[in-house]
Amino acid sequence: PRTVFSGIQPTGIPHLGNYLGALSNWVHLQETARSEDTFIYSVVGLHAITVSQDPTKLRRDRLDALTSLLAIGIDPKRSILFFQEDVQEHTELAWILGCLAPIGRLNRMTAYKATSPEASSDERLGLFAYPVLQAADILAYKATHVPVGEDQRQHLELTRDLATPSISNVPPKYSPFPKTPQVPPTKRILSLRDPSQKMSKSSPHVNSRILLTDTSSDIMLKIRKAITDSNFGITYDPINRPGISNLLRILHACRAPMRSHDTALEESEASTRLDDELHGATMASFKEAVADAVSARIGPIREEFARLRADEGYVRQVAREGANKAKDIASRTVREVKERIGLGQL
Ligand code: TYM
Repeated sequence: PRTVFSGIQPTGIPHLGNYLGALSNWVHLQETARSEDTFIYSVVGLHAITVSQDPTKLRRDRLDALTSLLAIGIDPKRSILFFQEDVQEHTELAWILGCLAPIGRLNRMTAYKATSPEASSDERLGLFAYPVLQAADILAYKATHVPVGEDQRQHLELTRDLATPSISNVPPKYSPFPKTPQVPPTKRILSLRDPSQKMSKSSPHVNSRILLTDTSSDIMLKIRKAITDSNFGITYDPINRPGISNLLRILHACRAPMRSHDTALEESEASTRLDDELHGATMASFKEAVADAVSARIGPIREEFARLRADEGYVRQVAREGANKAKDIASRTVREVKERIGLGQL
C-alpha cells in the first residue's frame, strides 16, 4: 500500500508552478488510488512562519490554500486534508529529529541559503530548522510517496537520511521509504518575467506568476508580457531559449489531461506534435495558444474556488475532520518513536 504525503505553504493562492509541479500530481495520485492507499495533504502553517507573516493575512492565506486544494479536486472522502498546525505531533517529532540532525548537513540546504544568503547571528532558528520540520511531516505518516516539485528534492534526501540508522541511533521503522521522490516532477515552471528563476509566490512581480484564480484576461495579459527572445520560430531549447521553453512546457502540461508526470516534454512524442503545430507560428499566436491552454485548464478551478469560498464553514469542517484523522496516524508514530528513545510513558 502507498502512503502519499505532501504539503504546501499558505502563502497566497497557489500558482501555476505549484499546480503543474506538484498539486496536479496530488490529484492524479488520488485518482489512481487503490483501496489500501492513504493520501494525506497538508497546508503547512508552521513552515510559513519561518519568515515574517502578517497574522491577519496568514489566516486568510491558510483558508485560501485549503480552499484551493479542494478546488483542484482533492476529495476529502478519499484524502486527509488538514492544517499542519492542528496536529501537534509534527512539532514534537520535529524536535526529536532536530536532536539527530547534524548542523553541517542543514547548512548545505540550498533553499535555506536562497532565503538567507548571509549567515548571521540574527538568523532565525526556525528557518534553519525548516527541513527538519518537513522531515517530521513526512516521517510522522511513514510516507512512501512524496509528490513535490524539483525544488524540494534536497529536503526529501535529508528526510531519508534522518530516518537512516547511521545518522540517527534510532532504528528506522520507516521503510519502505523511497530513495528518491517516487514521482518525477514536471520540470520546474519558471518565472514569466525572469526565466532564470522559478515561478514563485515571493517574487515582487505579480506578472511573473499565474495564480489558480486568475481570469482568462489576467492569463492572456501575463503570457503576452512573458519574457521570451527574438530568435526565429518556436523551438524547445531550455538552455538557450529558457523563456520559450518554459511556455512550451506550460502548454504541454496544461493540455495533457490529468496525467502522470512520466511525460516530461523532452521525452514525449507530444513535443513532436507540438513542433508540427507550432511550425511557423508567430510569437503572438504561440502565446495565444499557451494562454488558451492555461485558461482551459485552470478556469474550472477558479470557478470551484469561488463557489467554495462562499462556504467557509464547509472548508473549516473538512480541516477539522482531516486533523483528527491525521492525528490518529501521527500520534501512533510519535508514541513508537518516544518508546524507542526512552521517552515512552513510564
Ligand atoms: P511550496 O509551498 O513552496 O510549494 C508547494 C509545491 O509546489 C512545488 N513548486 C513548484 N514546482 C514546479 N515549478 C515551480 N516553479 C514550483 N514552485 C513550487 C514545490 O516543489 C512543492 O511541491 N517545503 C514545501 C512544503 C512542505 C512539504 C512538506 C512538502 C512542508 N512539509 C512535506 C512535501 C512534504 C514548500 O515550501 O512547498
